[in-house]
Amino acid sequence: MEKMTVAQARDVSAVGKQILLQGWVRTRRDSKGGFSFLELNDGSCFGNVQVVADGKLPNYESEVKKLNAGASISVAGEVRASPAQGQPTEVHAQSVTVHGWADPETYALQKKRHSFEFLRTLAHLRPRTNTFGAVARVRNCICRSIHEFFQEQGFLYVHPPIITASDCEGAGQMFKVTTLDLAKVPQQGPAVDHTQDFFGRPTYLTVSGQLEAEIFACSLGKVYTFGPTFRAENSNTSRHLAEFWMVEPEMAFFDLTDNMDLAEAFLKRIFRDVLERCSEDMKFFNERIDQTAIATLEGVANSQFVRLSYTEAVDLLQKSGATFEFPVAWGNDLQAEHERYLTEQTFKKPVILFDYPSKIKPFYMRVNDDGKTVRAMDVLVPRVGEIIGGSQREERLDVLERRMREQNLNPESYWWYLDLRRYGTVPHSGFGLGLERTIQFATGMANIRDVIPFPRTPGSADF
Ligand code: 4AD
Ligand code: MG
Repeated sequence: MEKMTVAQARDVSAVGKQILLQGWVRTRRDSKGGFSFLELNDGSCFGNVQVVADGKLPNYESEVKKLNAGASISVAGEVRASPAQGQPTEVHAQSVTVHGWADPETYALQKKRHSFEFLRTLAHLRPRTNTFGAVARVRNCICRSIHEFFQEQGFLYVHPPIITASDCEGAGQMFKVTTLDLAKVPQQGPAVDHTQDFFGRPTYLTVSGQLEAEIFACSLGKVYTFGPTFRAENSNTSRHLAEFWMVEPEMAFFDLTDNMDLAEAFLKRIFRDVLERCSEDMKFFNERIDQTAIATLEGVANSQFVRLSYTEAVDLLQKSGATFEFPVAWGNDLQAEHERYLTEQTFKKPVILFDYPSKIKPFYMRVNDDGKTVRAMDVLVPRVGEIIGGSQREERLDVLERRMREQNLNPESYWWYLDLRRYGTVPHSGFGLGLERTIQFATGMANIRDVIPFPRTPGSADF
């Protein structure tokens, strides 16, 4: 007897085989003919397989007829072509073994639809629902594509530290890492005495692996990082998490145009793979979550992204005649409403904005000859807004030191980063893609808390 997944058992090629299936019951329906239908799911695909359990099974009355949603079972049986519409196969059980019951009186996931807010309070059970199973499979598919894309192009996967002493984005939104007793913090004058702390200095959870990725790019060429990053910003929005996953490619001898080309090819590859490898899940998202989900992804995969300078974008927004909550003025950061206007109203496709004012971007971005703008790029997509942030890096030592001082950073504490410019400096570029925003965009899920298994947000770290 062959052990099979539900996905395999649903395929016509399985017809005639004796198999063992294991999973969780979604529904049970008893027929007047003295047998029962069990819908079984094991996470291997969106759909269930129908198990036909005959009344002659020895435990039919004592167990099979008591199975409810959530119970776990093993089924040994034969795969047959199904006479019913919409399913190629069904499994005729020779035995049904119950592993665990799920009391319908207390089991929270009953057949009725639950709100996503309610399901967030059941993060340990929500992967058993259609939506969260589909999200988990799309998330997995995207991660696989990320590695495939970079590995096929000769990038090295490198691992930056999670605990760090430097603030990459210079925005001061870092979680502190300490073993000091907060009830009696050692002091040196008015300040905390960090020499007594675990690392002998202040340390934080990283906001980005970029600085360390630059070290490897400036030694080995093309690299990428892929891991969790942390931001202690108090943003309670549908697009912000305190812990999220970021992919950060970093490439020596890439200028900003090379960087944009890579970002565009990368996103197209991810979305094509989702359409192809998760077609059943995408059909579900298209039917139940966002009626434009599939068309949007196909559009992105086949379109050419718009490339527009920040200055042109400001001009365009000012002349648009649209009313915004936040005024558009050269030098101000663009707000989500402005980004959405560009992608949803003006162009109806992804837009790469570049050459932002230096004042609103971090110290490491390369300064343009105009002295006012830097070689930054943000990739914006409809609905979600910014999905990628990146830049060409400042490779000139003197300019980089000046930019650090302008932003009140002490060049001495970044001595190793500056060494990359002292010895064999090269033009180089990179970007960061937010994994959860990518999944949000692909699935049409409205809230970022529903595309990561265990969301961390202000005031919430359950599970
Ligand atoms: O634009 P960001 O801050 O860029 C960086 O961190 C650079 N060091 C990346 C690089 O050049 N290597 O963040 C990159 C992306 C954003 O575009 C967004 O998709 C995602 O990370 N992101 C968040 N996702 C969820 N929750 C948050 N709080 C996020 N902050 C950024
Ligand atoms: Mg950004």
